[in-house]
Amino acid sequence: MANDRKICLSGKGLTKVFGFGRTKTVAVDHVDFNFYEGEIISIVGESGSGKTTLAKLLLGLINPTEGEIYFQGEKRDIRTHRKKKEYWKNIQAIFQDPFSSYNIFNKIDSVLLDCINMRGGRRLPKAQKIEMMTEACSFVNLKFEELTNKYPFELSGGQQQRLMIARVFLLKPKILLADEPTSMIDACSRATILDMLMQLRDEEGMTPIFITHDIGLAYYVSDTVYIMEKGKFVERGSADAVIIHPQEEYTRRLINDVPKIYEEWDLSTV
Ligand SMILES: Nc1ncnc2c1ncn2[C@@H]1O[C@H](COP(=O)(O)OP(=O)(O)OP(=O)(O)O)[C@@H](O)[C@H]1O
Ligand SMILES: [Mg+2]
Repeated sequence: MANDRKICLSGKGLTKVFGFGRTKTVAVDHVDFNFYEGEIISIVGESGSGKTTLAKLLLGLINPTEGEIYFQGEKRDIRTHRKKKEYWKNIQAIFQDPFSSYNIFNKIDSVLLDCINMRGGRRLPKAQKIEMMTEACSFVNLKFEELTNKYPFELSGGQQQRLMIARVFLLKPKILLADEPTSMIDACSRATILDMLMQLRDEEGMTPIFITHDIGLAYYVSDTVYIMEKGKFVERGSADAVIIHPQEEYTRRLINDVPKIYEEWDLSTV
């Protein structure tokens, strides 16, 4: 199936080492991968396995110690500020801590306006910009009128995460990295947010990459699952192959941490 699809992002020997000598940590250790357009990818691993570091490498927030990243088949070049901004039109992220994603001195309307400007909408008439921001907010069930003049930190955790998705709605990146996008909210909002991301994938052709501890989530949402242990991909494949028929002990352990993710619940034993 993957043969007739385009590769959107790949890594070759991608490595990130923090520190030196005794304090050296190999956070990402020579990973190779091809992510295809429209494929739903999950990267699963225990805490400290290198998931966020890999996300930061992919985003270009930190530089690899070794190895290369290719975007749409070409070696990624983000050496200048302009090229970096150009790259960020294509790849965006939703992080564990929504706080860290905002400049706290920017009000919500300017957070959203920045997205319109980044997509080349700087010269659009003001009324049209307001219409776009209103549409983005209503996509995530927020009311734009109630948000103007507020700062992101004045929102609840769940609202902040939805605001991040409103940004994604305006930016329309090709790739969206979601690093534990739903960890701080309840199961109900979690489902809503997943729904919104899936809608963006279907309507905008966005490629979502979920980074999570939650192998149950990975099983339900993804086409391809990558299992990460100590900076390496130890197993990869279709969600069924990896989760129903895991080859690695480590993967089995991750699955056992989340019992009964794919079995029917047996209520007779409760
Ligand atoms: N800036 C840094 N400086 C030094 N070490 C770091 C830095 N960032 C991460 N590390 C180390 O790299 C390893 C991988 O960290 P990373 O944050 O990528 O893990 P993770 O898989 O995202 O974990 P979690 O599931 O807890 O978020 C850890 O050992 C961490 O301590
Ligand atoms: Mg992390």
